[in-house]
Amino acid sequence: MAPLIPFDLRCEHLSTARGLNTPVPRFSWALEGDGQDRRQSAYQLLVRNDRQTIWDSGKIVSDATQLIPYGGPPLGSDQVLDWTVTVWDESDTPSAASEPAMTFAGLDAANWQAEWIARYFVLPAGREAPADNVYDNRWQARPADYLRRDFAAAGTPSRATLYITALGLYEAYLNGQRIGDDVMAPGWTDYHTRVEYQMHDVTNLVRPGDNVLGAILGEGWYSGRVGHNQRRAGNHYGGRPALLCQLHLHYANGTTQIVRSDEHWQTRQGPICYSDFLMGEMYDARLDLDGWNSAQGPLSGWQPVEVFVPDPCAPQLDAARVQPVREVARLPAAYSHLSQNGGAIFDLGQNIAGYCELSVSAEPSDRFVLRHGEILDGDRELYTANLRHAVATDIFIASGDGTEIFKPRFTFHGFRFVELTLPAGMSPQAVTLTGIAIQTDTPVTGEIATGHPLVNQLLSNIFWSQRDNFLSVPTDCPQRDERYGWTADAQVFWRTAGYFMDVSAFLTKWMLDIEDGQSPDGAFPDVAPTKPLNPYRLTPQPGAPGWGDAPVIMAWEHWLRYADHELLERYWPALEAWSDHILRANPDFIRRNAVYNNYGDWLSVGPASDRTLVATAYWFRVADLMSRIAVVLGRSSDAARHRQVAASVREAFIGCFVGDNKLLTNDTQTSYLLSLDFDLLPPALRQGAADRLVELIEAAGGHLQTGFLGVRHLLPVLTSIGRDDLAVAMLLKKTYPSWGFSIEHGATTIWERWDGWTPDKGFQSTNMNSFNHYAYGSVGEWIWSRLAGIEAMETSPGFATVHMAPLLDDRIGQVSARYRSCRGTIESKWQIEGDQARWIVTLPPGCQAVVQIPASWQHQRGERQLTLGSGRHALTLKRS
Ligand code: BGC
Repeated sequence: MAPLIPFDLRCEHLSTARGLNTPVPRFSWALEGDGQDRRQSAYQLLVRNDRQTIWDSGKIVSDATQLIPYGGPPLGSDQVLDWTVTVWDESDTPSAASEPAMTFAGLDAANWQAEWIARYFVLPAGREAPADNVYDNRWQARPADYLRRDFAAAGTPSRATLYITALGLYEAYLNGQRIGDDVMAPGWTDYHTRVEYQMHDVTNLVRPGDNVLGAILGEGWYSGRVGHNQRRAGNHYGGRPALLCQLHLHYANGTTQIVRSDEHWQTRQGPICYSDFLMGEMYDARLDLDGWNSAQGPLSGWQPVEVFVPDPCAPQLDAARVQPVREVARLPAAYSHLSQNGGAIFDLGQNIAGYCELSVSAEPSDRFVLRHGEILDGDRELYTANLRHAVATDIFIASGDGTEIFKPRFTFHGFRFVELTLPAGMSPQAVTLTGIAIQTDTPVTGEIATGHPLVNQLLSNIFWSQRDNFLSVPTDCPQRDERYGWTADAQVFWRTAGYFMDVSAFLTKWMLDIEDGQSPDGAFPDVAPTKPLNPYRLTPQPGAPGWGDAPVIMAWEHWLRYADHELLERYWPALEAWSDHILRANPDFIRRNAVYNNYGDWLSVGPASDRTLVATAYWFRVADLMSRIAVVLGRSSDAARHRQVAASVREAFIGCFVGDNKLLTNDTQTSYLLSLDFDLLPPALRQGAADRLVELIEAAGGHLQTGFLGVRHLLPVLTSIGRDDLAVAMLLKKTYPSWGFSIEHGATTIWERWDGWTPDKGFQSTNMNSFNHYAYGSVGEWIWSRLAGIEAMETSPGFATVHMAPLLDDRIGQVSARYRSCRGTIESKWQIEGDQARWIVTLPPGCQAVVQIPASWQHQRGERQLTLGSGRHALTLKRS
């Protein structure tokens, strides 16, 4: 048999780690191999620096492929590492060494010499309107700052590395060339605590002698607008953006030259008249600063920068823990029609987060205004009322110099439609408009298609809502004046998210944002990053039930999917503090206190669920998961303590919420769903609860009545009570309220509300009506785990063993699912042909599956359950 192939090498969850925040980075790889029952019996890791091996693990007899800790000498600052792995298979045949992967050690705190630099602070509030007023705007959004310095390189460097970050957003250039392909860098963190820096290899951009290093700074999350509070719309972290960078030029003779941000830089403003996430960007190409980032100085109109220490203190500098935000898709915009005010409406066919690229040949001073919206109203006009205070308008003023290409740098919008106001007399056909979707570039890991077009559209809508909202942090929505990292939205969606994309690095970074927002009394926040978004308090808004509970739930999901022990260990004290916070406030084990904005089953339709019941059910879930996490961590007395809390909560729950009729006193779908899925009810009460849930669904005409918290449990619970038939019926439902209803009405992303738009009522309240919130997309986990049958197992996390119990349903007909797990690719493909079904299962080396033959189907050998080893298996099933 051919040797195994190690691939998809990762260090700290990243294919290229651009800086490490740990002395002990961890290495992982996936495996590929022909034939059956393949497995790794040993591995050898080689880590090199400058072609010298610095760590050779030797041949280690082990089947481990994930998160193997580095065991070599301490890594130095600014080191470039490459590493390979060789694996031995079950018969001790070695593989070829893997393709090397790069890992950069990054710059440790002691080696940062750069200073924060910015344009001089001009009162009031740092806003400056120059004499000709081209930069003025009614939101007082700042013009972008251009910064540059020239420097002489002592020769041709053998290696040049740029470390760079900003308070605000930056784009960097060396000798006129854009550095890297990140957008919205450095991403969002609590800038008063920490900021991530990026690292770029710029060896090929440096010339011996004269060079120019430049950066453009925008406001972004730092000083621009984000969130809905108009009393503190912007300037959340500071009043002006700032830059910090350090360029290391290494020469063959062993010397290093360092160019850094300091008082030698100059600044001025240029063609970006303002840029702001919510307002949009205005670019006046007549103000282009030709050669600003390539020509040698001195140039006119440039002023010295100010070197300063940001308030309230300089943030900690961390290497990026997550992939950068990148442009991930381009969608041509098709001209549709003229709006009543003469604007040309273009349609991308897909609701995205990003911006447009406009290509046009125009007269000098021609003005192009791009307004963005998710949807058209009944008159086919651009609907923007749901954007609240977000203006979402970009303006381009042409220089008239040939074909010009405009795309904004420091703003993004949530949109499918664009209304483009063209200069008088210009036809819409004279421009080329392209939508560009951006997201944190979390690798896509899941491809799935079914035999049902509605389900396929739903899967696409979920995928796009994830793509559109995974932007540095998991946001609620990309379009209106909000775009916060709401914690419950994320936790209900996390299992789904992990199928479509590798979210391991993304969570690693966001857990820290959440912890940065944890109050000294243990309260996790409602949103992260958080402070100081609230104008009235210096402390973050503490998390409501289901919201503040999110870190416990997501840490657990992360464990199941990636078997990352260290994350559990790292956050154990924070999770404990949260658990204690709930317990301290609720001595009778009913969660009435410390519930803060207690949102309950947010945005449910039909009868409302009792918020105290929902909160207490979630408390049980938290205590239950804490005991499981404690077991994983080998903390047996902690496990017993949390188990005891869970038992007390269960007892109080039954005493308080179960009536004499043995049913819940709060008779809603969500109350039953949480009680059943969290396993709150004793066996004697389960059947009655299950029957009542089904009755409630039937009484609602087979419709759901769940909100953000309930919806995630709906189809999984129906499956667990043996009602797959009803689960599929609800999945395929097209009448209101259902997933299909939004699809019937043209949704290309998941709506925030079941009734975002209905034929009788039109649009829901403009106060809150996004068409791109992923929370209801949490049904994705059931499609992957149940319909396709690819599910992680608590007893064997990280997909070492896969639980496979697909649901062969005639209404769906076929499913083809391919999930690239951290260990390798897992496939499940089934297709029904008359009374027969063919099911192909593919498992990577070292992985096995516990397979359950679907009810009403018969395996050729008659087994109901079988264990499959790695390789490809073709199963033929007959209807029984
Ligand atoms: C957000 C949510 C969030 C909620 C909390 C909304 O404004 O968009 O998705 O979870 O507030 O109630």
